[in-house]
Amino acid sequence: MSPPVTFCLFVSLLLPASAVAEECPVQQENDQNTPPLFARGGKPLARDIRTMVVHNDLKDRCIVNTSQIVTNLTRVNQAENTVIYLICVFPTPIVIRPDLDPEFVPEREVYMLQIIGCSFDKSSIFAITSLAEFKTFVFIGSLIKGGFTTLRDFRSESLKSVFSFLHVNIGSSNESIWTLFDERDAFENMGEISITNSHWLDLPENISSIFPNLQTLDLPNNGLQVPHSNFPWTQELLYLPNNLTRTGFMHHNYAESESLSIPNDIFRRSMDMRENNITDLSMFEFHGLIHMISLRNNSLRSLGKNTFSNISGIQT
Ligand SMILES: *[C@@H]1O[C@H](CO)[C@@H](O)[C@H](O)[C@H]1NC(C)=O
Ligand SMILES: *[C@@H]1O[C@H](CO)[C@@H](O)[C@H](O)[C@H]1NC(C)=O
Ligand SMILES: *[C@@H]1O[C@H](CO)[C@@H](O)[C@H](O)[C@H]1NC(C)=O
Ligand SMILES: *[C@@H]1O[C@H](CO)[C@@H](O)[C@H](O)[C@H]1NC(C)=O
Ligand SMILES: *[C@@H]1O[C@H](CO)[C@@H](O)[C@H](O)[C@H]1NC(C)=O
Ligand SMILES: *[C@@H]1O[C@H](CO)[C@@H](O)[C@H](O)[C@H]1NC(C)=O
Ligand SMILES: *[C@@H]1O[C@H](CO)[C@@H](O)[C@H](O)[C@H]1NC(C)=O
Ligand SMILES: *[C@@H]1O[C@H](CO)[C@@H](O)[C@H](O)[C@H]1NC(C)=O
Repeated sequence: MSPPVTFCLFVSLLLPASAVAEECPVQQENDQNTPPLFARGGKPLARDIRTMVVHNDLKDRCIVNTSQIVTNLTRVNQAENTVIYLICVFPTPIVIRPDLDPEFVPEREVYMLQIIGCSFDKSSIFAITSLAEFKTFVFIGSLIKGGFTTLRDFRSESLKSVFSFLHVNIGSSNESIWTLFDERDAFENMGEISITNSHWLDLPENISSIFPNLQTLDLPNNGLQVPHSNFPWTQELLYLPNNLTRTGFMHHNYAESESLSIPNDIFRRSMDMRENNITDLSMFEFHGLIHMISLRNNSLRSLGKNTFSNISGIQT
């Protein structure tokens, strides 16, 4: 055989093999006991943290079976506030595949989900968020268009329990983060949304019907030229679910460190638009009850005389 033919043969043998995704190794790191974040009736909820590290590699897409994420969860102590961290070693896209025969996930007062460094499509996100009724969802990573998930698709139903959603785009997203929230639905629990570094942040047209009770819309570093003109669309305060309050530790991080004086059982109302491209607010008027507005690091040149005249509750 001449060398070019050998080469072609080699490539054609390799391709099918590398297209078959392997299961990613997932390793659980030691739980640590950390200060409680929430309390009820003055009694702090014990917190446990599970850190699941996905040891994917730089080149090949691998598969995580949802059972790998919740394995051993039943054996953890009875902490009422469970935080699941899913950390990817590389930003190579991974596929999360629902286990058709899922392990029983125990009930908890507050489940929190934090995904760091991972890249996947919507179906994979829904496969994870369907595992429990997560109250907070932090996603630091990238959302890519699907096309490689063959198993059944989940809808954004699983995000209806979420009160706080935070996304920082750190990779090569090519799917809008808003597609996680079906625009035919209303996410009534959603109190806080924070989205950072999304290059093409097109807010949904009817964002106020999708998130009717939204208190915070933080959009730092998104290249915005104007703040959202309709926010805040509700003047009603939103309380933490199930009569929860923030503990002193949590409240300090959430409110006091930002010099906000608010009760420990409500969501803060804020519009953080730092590091955008807002230069001209001469025709813009903020309105309504709002605790915090940040316009730091915008080359702001002009303000109108009514820009800040129709707001109440402002503290910083
Ligand atoms: C589950 O717990 C067992 C026993 O503590 C441990 O050996 C195993 O590695 C754990 N599984 C994972 C995926 O961490
Ligand atoms: C997922 O993992 C569990 C436990 O390791 C296994 O029993 C199940 O068959 C796997 N499901 C799929 C779809 O691979
Ligand atoms: C989106 O990005 C992923 C990962 O980089 C890539 O595999 C996929 O082809 C991209 N899809 C589109 C439509 O650009
Ligand atoms: C938002 O707009 C879309 C498209 O116009 C529509 O289908 C959907 O019903 C609207 N959603 C809400 C909650 O009003
Ligand atoms: C900021 O906006 C101006 C137009 O108002 C545009 O020319 C410029 O490219 C924008 N810069 C960024 C970083 O988006
Ligand atoms: C919250 O507290 C009120 C009064 O203390 C009580 O009536 C209500 O049932 C509690 N709600 C929940 C979900 O525990
Ligand atoms: C002030 O804001 C409220 C909504 O919060 C709006 O109804 C009212 O028209 C605004 N008033 C002025 C003078 O813009
Ligand atoms: C503002 O931008 C400058 C330069 O881009 C940067 O050095 C500084 O840290 C930024 N400040 C804040 C508060 O983000």
